[in-house]
Amino acid sequence: MNAKIAYTAHNTPKKILSNFDLEKIVNTSDDWIQSRTGIKQRYIVENGEASSDISTKIAEQLLMKSKISADEIDLIIVGTVTPDHYTPSTAALVQKNIKANNAWGFDLSAACSGYIFGLETGSNFIRSGQYKNVMVIGVDTMSSILDFQDRDTCVIFGDGGGGAILQPTKERYGIIDSILHMDGNGGDYLIVPAGGSRIPASIDSVKNRSHFIKQDGKTVFKHAVKGMADVSKKILTKNNLSGSDISLFIPHQANKRIIDAAAQKCGIEENKVLINIEKYGNTTAGTIPIAMNEAITENRIKDGDYILLSSFGAGFTWGSMLIRWEMKL
Ligand code: UT7
Repeated sequence: MNAKIAYTAHNTPKKILSNFDLEKIVNTSDDWIQSRTGIKQRYIVENGEASSDISTKIAEQLLMKSKISADEIDLIIVGTVTPDHYTPSTAALVQKNIKANNAWGFDLSAACSGYIFGLETGSNFIRSGQYKNVMVIGVDTMSSILDFQDRDTCVIFGDGGGGAILQPTKERYGIIDSILHMDGNGGDYLIVPAGGSRIPASIDSVKNRSHFIKQDGKTVFKHAVKGMADVSKKILTKNNLSGSDISLFIPHQANKRIIDAAAQKCGIEENKVLINIEKYGNTTAGTIPIAMNEAITENRIKDGDYILLSSFGAGFTWGSMLIRWEMKL
């Protein structure tokens, strides 16, 4: 038995922050942001809005589309590095909000790979025969950890997320393979230094702005291109496929230049690569599920298609997932 992505949904906050808005906040320009990243705008939350609010809207859409009752959800996995709180988990808040009375769940911290790692985890509970309906959400409220005085990071990220309900399907369909990696040696290159148990929140941690995300962009860029290209090529070879067999490549949206380089190295034509970074920026665990739901809404995926997902992010964490599409409409 395999697991398939049976239903998808996505959600973003309403408020748009354009590159022109950012020009008024930090020393940057629309021209620099567009040419170096591909981003034109991103969505950000209003004060008081958090990851569980976005996730609950995603979960409600998933229940509506699937006509599954909340009681039928067995497990809720939320991939996020910006939970509402350390505890309770975002998954527990979603469970409460949608009244999924028979579900258990947890948050999964794998940064930009949070959704792929979540799909892998959820799909194994389906494959084992233990569960029939697993909800996987990838969401981040990056504006909550962004330093709007640091132009290296604040222009890149946005808020939003998406998700899916996984259900059983026959072998050779659904999620057919994945290759996942982690290398903690990359940890310092993309990090929120304070606010955890190493440097608990204090007046000094706030004064030093060390509760915000820091990135060595150049180093992450180099690892991201190589990591995403290598793992994507590896999963294609392992499954006797080439880039031309892929109907749609849905990569993590961190930088258009990273996506173009990875797609080119895998021999995937430009028109088969989903790029929506111009609208959303980098929503961390949110990028792949947002892109996947957009692709379905725009009829870019048909039954039988091979879909390739690929991510790279903090940790470092990275991986690829191969899907043979089969969906209930
Ligand atoms: O999703 C998680 C994984 N994250 C990623 O995959 C992100 C990977 N990294 C990147 O996408 C890119 O490295 C960035 C978009 C973050 C930066 O692009 P870059 O081409 O690597 O720029 P850079 O850091 O080498 O900076 C080039 C120049 C510098 O000026 P000088 O030293 O050449 O005079 C920077 O000071 O651009 C300057 N710069 C900016 N200028 C205007 C850096 N940030 C900005 C900015 N606006 N926001």
